[in-house]
Formats: sequence, C-alpha cells, structure tokens
Amino acid sequence: MAAGSRAAGFAAAAGAAWLAKRALRTRIRRSPLWPLPALETPVSGHSPRRTLRATVVARTEAADGVVHLRLASPELPAWTPGAHVDLLLPSGLVRQYSLCGDPAETGTYEIAVRRAEDGRGGSREVHDRLAEGAEVQLRPPRNRFPLEPATRHVFVVGGIGITPVLPMLRALGPEADWTLLYGGRSRASMPFLPELARHGDRVTVVPEDEAGRPDLSFLSSAGPGTAVYCCGPEPLMAAVEEAAPAGVPVHLERFTAAAPAAGRPFTLELRRSGTTVTVAAGESALTAVRRALPDTPYSCTQGFCGTCQHRVLTGPVDHRDTLLTDEERTTTMLLCVSRAEGDHLVLDV
Ligand code: FES
Repeated sequence: MAAGSRAAGFAAAAGAAWLAKRALRTRIRRSPLWPLPALETPVSGHSPRRTLRATVVARTEAADGVVHLRLASPELPAWTPGAHVDLLLPSGLVRQYSLCGDPAETGTYEIAVRRAEDGRGGSREVHDRLAEGAEVQLRPPRNRFPLEPATRHVFVVGGIGITPVLPMLRALGPEADWTLLYGGRSRASMPFLPELARHGDRVTVVPEDEAGRPDLSFLSSAGPGTAVYCCGPEPLMAAVEEAAPAGVPVHLERFTAAAPAAGRPFTLELRRSGTTVTVAAGESALTAVRRALPDTPYSCTQGFCGTCQHRVLTGPVDHRDTLLTDEERTTTMLLCVSRAEGDHLVLDV
C-alpha cells in the first residue's frame, strides 16, 4: 500500500516536472530573444498602459495655491504609504502626484497639488480644470519611496513634499519613534498644518518668512537604526544627504528633472522587436525608440517616474537619472534620460 502511494507520488511529481519543462520550452520557442525566455512582465513591475478612471468627489483649498482633491472609483487598487500615481490630464500631459490620504480607505485616493505659475502647465491644468465632478484618468500607484522598518524615523520635508509623508506618519502611529521637520515659505503656503498640529512637539514647523531656512545640524547625531526620509526641493534634499552621517540611510522622493538627455549619437538595437534605431545627439533614447515603437510607455520624460525603465542586454550605459539603485543600473536603464556610454546598446525591447 505504502509502496503504491509512493509510486503514485513519483508519477505525479514527474508529470508536474514534464509540464513545467514543456511550458518553459514553449516560452523560449516564442521568444524573439532566443535563447532567452520571453519576459512576462515589464521590468518596472507594472503595466504602464493600464489606466484607471475616477471622479473628483471633493476639492478643497489646503493652503495658498494648493488644491486638495479626493478621487473616487471602485476600481482604484490598494496602495502603500509613499506611493504616487500618474495623472493623465485632459490635455494629454501626464504628471506624478503622491497619494496623501489613508490607504485603508479603499476606492478613494487623495492628492494635493501646488500651482506652479512658472511650471510646464500640469499643475495649472489641475487647478483650472479639475472641479468637483470632473472625470480623471490615472495609472495604478507605484511606490519608489516606501516606508522601511527602522528604530527611529526622521522626516524632513519642504512645502508640498509633505504629501507622501502624511500616510507614513499615520502608518507609524503614536507609539513609534519619529520626528518631522516641515519647512515652507510661509505658514499660509504650507498644507496640512492643522492635521500635523495633533502630533505635538514631534513636528517642527519652520516657515521661512519667520524663522529662515531649517537648521539640519541635528541630523549629524542620527544614530544606528535611524532612517531619514526627505521630499522637497532639490537643494533641501542635497542638504539632507550632506548632513546625515555615513551609514544612516537617506530615502529621497524626487519630482524634479534629471540632467538633459542630449549627448553624442549612438545606435540602439531593440532585440525583442528585431530592429535597430539611431539616437541622434539632440534627442533621447526614448524618442528614438518611440519612432520605431510608438506604444513604448513613458510618463515624466525626466528620469523620476520609472515608467521607461528597460532591460539592457549589452553595452555600458551612461546613467543620468537619480532614481535607479546601483543594482538596477547593472541590468536596466531609463530611456528618457540615459544614453550609451559607447556607440551601441542592445535592449530587451
Ligand atoms: S518617463 Fe519617467 S523616468 Fe523615463
């Protein structure tokens, strides 16, 4: 009896192994990357082509020049503190905004947008066109700024950079050891001050018109087990990186542009598609790839959203982004800002 069931077990295992082998052979046979198997998901781990629809169900002024929108739809996926979404604006512009609501509230996202008169138009469009009742399209949340476990969390934010940190503070709760330094131009321009006031002296508010620039010297005493999180203008993030002691992780959320994508020309073989394109000196690899493959997804075109991340099969890359980790750079690149270091690159595209 025991021998019989052992034999049946062996037969089942052999059958499963044969099926797995056959599935892999099929994947490999169909792959244009022969002898590599075809990839099942984009390297960035999400499908940028998927769009969601939601309705603006509430709109309030969170501070001078800052509008706070609540978006609702039963199809909105779950998210984690630090995540952002791409908002696909009616004009075709795509902009990234951190989610600042409560992840426990399913079917609802909240974003806050500061109007930038000298910006590229995205925030003006949000302010001028997204009234209550407006329909919006967005892409599913992605998180490049996740809350990692630590003994102590230190947050340093500037202005609208408070948005990804709000859900983190709620997730940490009152028992956790955390502090927040929140800088801005003036109290009137700083959103969510009433909510933050509930946390007492763990939050230090530094309006520049009253107290000048925030003093970051306290960061030098950050000890082992501390994690520093910063979101705000580039100079603030650079100063935080500078002030934190070596060995203390500094997590940054960037929504500003990387270096320009121009450089010397090179060729780009798109192995999966069986074609080669030339990237001219004054254009990005993304532009050249989209000439051959117009559906290639992208979003910010400035190296901070990760939508155009692709796998590199051959050739050294001149990485010009500040988004990818060192490990990611060994096998991938962002097409919108990075280029070949030499004359040729081969991509899994
Ligand atoms: S399109 Fe956003 S990183 Fe390239």
